[in-house]
Amino acid sequence: MTQSKVRTVIFPVAGLGTRFMPATKGTPKELLPVIDTPLIQYAIDEAREAEVDRMIFVSHPSKAAIKHYVLDDTQLRMTLTHHGKPELAYQLQAAALDTRTCEIIFVNQPEPRGLGDAVACARPHLLDGPVAVILPDDLILGEPGCLREMVNAYDRDKAGHLIAVMEVPKALTGQYGILSVTSQEGHFVLSDGIVEKPAPDKAPSQMAVVGRYILDPIIFDALAHQAPGVGGEIQLTDAIAQSGRKAGIAGFRFSGRRFDCGSKQGMLAATLFMAHKDPAYTEVLAAFQTSGDY
Ligand code: UTP
Repeated sequence: MTQSKVRTVIFPVAGLGTRFMPATKGTPKELLPVIDTPLIQYAIDEAREAEVDRMIFVSHPSKAAIKHYVLDDTQLRMTLTHHGKPELAYQLQAAALDTRTCEIIFVNQPEPRGLGDAVACARPHLLDGPVAVILPDDLILGEPGCLREMVNAYDRDKAGHLIAVMEVPKALTGQYGILSVTSQEGHFVLSDGIVEKPAPDKAPSQMAVVGRYILDPIIFDALAHQAPGVGGEIQLTDAIAQSGRKAGIAGFRFSGRRFDCGSKQGMLAATLFMAHKDPAYTEVLAAFQTSGDY
């Protein structure tokens, strides 16, 4: 029988993060915080909620801080406890990945050759069955989380590749992978193809791909032969389009709220959104709203 449970999640975290330079010269983009929580933490929590068995981080030697962040730091916890902060020590332990409950693997992408290439680097470490991919800079806040929703909805017989989608204004199609839509059934957007960053007049729809995927393993055969596409990079979208002819493609309209935290505007929006929900920031937000100052 074909395994259809999603057991593996890949986090591609080897990109250059040029839009956030100079901050990303010293700090990986995936560790930039929304107030006090790094983007990678949201991604990890989402994957945990989806109950995967193995997490694979595709990173780069220059981004070693990511590994340091995601794993438990017993020394730091002891120091915090010693300094009268046992609750903080406990919070850090709860946030860190526990290798007893989930397998954690780090692999390197030697050169940032594109998202497709990063995903392909995880191939030797996959468990059987479909594979999830989370892009940590696409922050999706929701209950349940986006990946949990997608895992629940995934049906390999309907479409081997299930991709999170949202409708975007026509003028913005050139910033996204765009689905060619054949029909819609509830949360499902059935599709017969996908195009990377089409100009508005060439876009087959306004249904844009965002950073959550459940992919049939056939994707790895396509990636192995994938030529560079838009921007000279190995595009995951191109490999989905190619292998999707056999595996099938569907979009999934998730219920959460998405922020493009790979952009400064998206990161600011996410920060303001979180601040609005927390009374600790009411005063500072109100002051800025009324006088533009604090
Ligand atoms: P982006 O497309 O946002 O690219 O990657 P980037 O290089 O990180 O950032 P900019 O565009 O230069 O500002 C989306 C996700 O894919 C990873 C990134 O780390 C990010 O989590 N990625 C991208 C890789 O792992 N490898 C790559 O070659 C490209």
